[in-house]
Amino acid sequence: MDILRAGLAAAVGLAGLLAASISLAGEASGGDAEKGESVYGSTCVACHGAKGKGTIPGVPDFTKKKGVLTKSDQELFDNIKNGFQSPGSFMAMPSLGGNPDLTDQDVRNVIAYIRQKFAKD
Ligand code: HEC
Repeated sequence: MDILRAGLAAAVGLAGLLAASISLAGEASGGDAEKGESVYGSTCVACHGAKGKGTIPGVPDFTKKKGVLTKSDQELFDNIKNGFQSPGSFMAMPSLGGNPDLTDQDVRNVIAYIRQKFAKD
């Protein structure tokens, strides 16, 4: 009986963990691409360009196959929110694209937008 109860507790614990990780993934997803368009146009376009190919050296081409948009929503969310510099890169992506007024939802929205607009795979 005790073993059964322990098993049940473990199963419940696992289900809780699963639910927690699902809601965590949800934190970075669920953006609205339509709303993301104005975020992109006001904050990101200067460096990333209207075509997503980058306007200055060191900026990744969003339209490249197997490029940065193959990363998960969570990773892109973190890198946009906190800023990001890949090893050996001579130019960093500034935190929130240098616009501290952007909310987490703005970041989710702009991720949905760049995926919809530029992702090739
Ligand atoms: C001042 C120029 C600049 C602005 C403004 C800017 N970025 Fe970037 N971004 C960069 C650079 C440079 C990199 C590449 C950094 C590296 O790889 O070291 C980058 C990388 C990225 C990446 C790839 C991250 C990864 O994990 O590889 C994404 C996604 C991105 N930017 C989205 C955005 C969004 C969305 C905005 C607007 C909110 C924005 N950027 C604004 C310069 C900029």
